Amino acid sequence: MSQKRVFSGIQPSGRLHVGNYVGAMRNMIALQKDYFCIYGIVDYHAMTVHFDPKEMEQSILDCAIDYMAAGIDPDRSVLMVQSTVSEHTELAWILNTITPISWLLRVPTFKEKREQNPDYVNMGLLDYPVLMAADIVLYKAEVVPVGDDQLPHLELTREIVRRFNSLFGHVFPEPKAQLGEVARILGLDGVNKMSKSLDNCIYLDDSREEIWKKLSTAVTDVRRKRRTDPGNPEECNIFTMHKAFSKKEDIDYCARECRAAGIGCLDCKKILLENMCKELEPIQKRQAQLREDRDAVQEILVRGRKRAKEIAVQTMGEVYTKLGINAYH
Ligand code: TRP
Repeated sequence: MSQKRVFSGIQPSGRLHVGNYVGAMRNMIALQKDYFCIYGIVDYHAMTVHFDPKEMEQSILDCAIDYMAAGIDPDRSVLMVQSTVSEHTELAWILNTITPISWLLRVPTFKEKREQNPDYVNMGLLDYPVLMAADIVLYKAEVVPVGDDQLPHLELTREIVRRFNSLFGHVFPEPKAQLGEVARILGLDGVNKMSKSLDNCIYLDDSREEIWKKLSTAVTDVRRKRRTDPGNPEECNIFTMHKAFSKKEDIDYCARECRAAGIGCLDCKKILLENMCKELEPIQKRQAQLREDRDAVQEILVRGRKRAKEIAVQTMGEVYTKLGINAYH
């Protein structure tokens, strides 16, 4: 294999927020420079929770648009829809047969979802991490850009890979997670992870006015009660956002002046607003352009399917051989 491969999956589940962007998306974009990247819109994963089939097609297209607007280059990388390459689920079946149920029952996301939705604990929800493992190893990916919430899934993938290789012979490399430089941004509440369901997000397509409305009331260092109190940048989520969006001079300036009570939280937030908008506005412009050209986006997904399929078929050939079922394929 000439070039190391990267895979990551993207859930087609609505608007992206800056937490997604900083945690995983930026890496997905940056890795395109040195790796062969395959990015899958994981519609089968999205079906493990309640979903509306009438919205699926639109969600998939929106998702492709968002990622292309942010910088996924379909001429360089493969952008595809998971369900269009049936080898994903086929390989998941094979991996199912070597994955102990006990491994799946202790996955944190499964436990969370089971608690949130006790009347909808379906088999797909339990099996989610095995399908994810199949997504990754189908392309023999070695690097997986993800947010830190995905680390337990990656660990499980590695365990499944080790088990497959030792039972049947070496086919798959052990993939490694790659986290963003700022791995986690908290929500506007300054306590919880940024998350759509908690309504504490800045969205990638929020306007400057919306972003300012959100930032101006966002929680900062709770120990700094008055403008004249010296602040503690390391305890402030706005400062974390600075680290994700601002250049070094601004980060240093805000840290120094916050500690000295030289600037107030609003001053600091205004600098952040400028830096955030500078990065988001070009993305929003491209989003608007791509929304006008849906046919082109659809074509890219068809092309992505073809390129992904070629690799998938090759890997499955090796898998059948190792399992002793290749004779009649
Ligand atoms: N579980 C991932 C998420 O919710 C999505 C995903 C599916 C994925 N398959 C993957 C991520 C393979 C990385 C690699 O974000």
